[in-house]
Amino acid sequence: ELGQYRHYMQKEIFEQPAALSNTLEMLGTTHSVQPGLFGASAEPVLRAARQVLILACGTSYHAGLTARYWLEAIAGLPCSVEVASEYRYRDSVADPATLVVTLSQSGETADTLAALQHAKLLGMRHTLCICNVPESSLVRENALRFITRAGPEIGVASTKAFTTQLAALYLLTLTLAKLRGRLTPANEGKGLSALRHLPVAVGKVLELEPHIRVWAERFAMKQNALFLGRGRHYPIAMEGALKLKEITYIHAEAYPAGELKHGPLALVDQDMPVIAVAPNDALLEKLKSNLQEVRARGGELFVFADADSEMSASDGLHILRLPEHYGQLSALLHTIPLQLLAYHVALVRGTDVDKPRNLAKSVTVE
Ligand code: F6R
Repeated sequence: ELGQYRHYMQKEIFEQPAALSNTLEMLGTTHSVQPGLFGASAEPVLRAARQVLILACGTSYHAGLTARYWLEAIAGLPCSVEVASEYRYRDSVADPATLVVTLSQSGETADTLAALQHAKLLGMRHTLCICNVPESSLVRENALRFITRAGPEIGVASTKAFTTQLAALYLLTLTLAKLRGRLTPANEGKGLSALRHLPVAVGKVLELEPHIRVWAERFAMKQNALFLGRGRHYPIAMEGALKLKEITYIHAEAYPAGELKHGPLALVDQDMPVIAVAPNDALLEKLKSNLQEVRARGGELFVFADADSEMSASDGLHILRLPEHYGQLSALLHTIPLQLLAYHVALVRGTDVDKPRNLAKSVTVE
């Protein structure tokens, strides 16, 4: 079943181009978004949404955090994203005009199911789920749904489920933007073609694997790591840190790079590798000055830039460039090298990649 791969996680990382093209297959060749892709009754519900509340756990929560940047910037909708296990126990204020979006690979995560029930009890009736398992409990609970077609995910660490969730969330954003009159036909066409081109773009990023293997060797003996990102790449840094701690047992934390000087910079010395997600966007200049703060304290920097980022390697500053700059969806592309990094560090350390200690694939208890 593993074919040419050593582990399910590796196989699932490399299946991402296919997982994305299967998930997006229903788009066909159309140049306009179709609300019906989220369910027969989706159009009036999506049109009526005044804000979005995303509920999820773990990696799925990171997909939600990424989507918030899209929903606010592109669809102009206020969006909050909550860890399901916290939301369900908080006395929050509900607005019935909220679209509640639950995200889950398995559709069986107890906290996510309970958070959805909690939202419904508070009077929020408009709910939509994005899920990878069509016959799951979560899908049964939602009239509106989008099924990602990542295929079965066996490795405990979620990989292809995450990137297909991101693709679905981007499509949802374009759909909401259009219904709200915020998407010009030109941008609609561009957004859809960026989605369609993803499998090819992800395939090119996967070719960086040999370089990441070299970086992994330098990492493997470390005890701690910091991940930095800014804007929509901050949740990607969080996801990179989660992958690393989950399968390599290296303690890793993510920070929005601007927060460094408010505390975590005190941790940085030559034993603290710092991984930065640094595509060429409006925040790159700010990020570069954050990185200088790290270098000045002797921290070794591993930077994932892209073809357009104006940065050059120097002593203690290593750079890998993704082949193309990908606009709003660059968050999705930048996930791939972080998955590969965690995987290769785990190989060097000899941990059980597919079944990390203490973890279960599907968390059906509180
Ligand atoms: C991390 C991981 C977990 C899951 C989380 C939610 O690699 O797999 O953090 O993302 O348990 O699971 P789902 O998406 O099935 O609700």
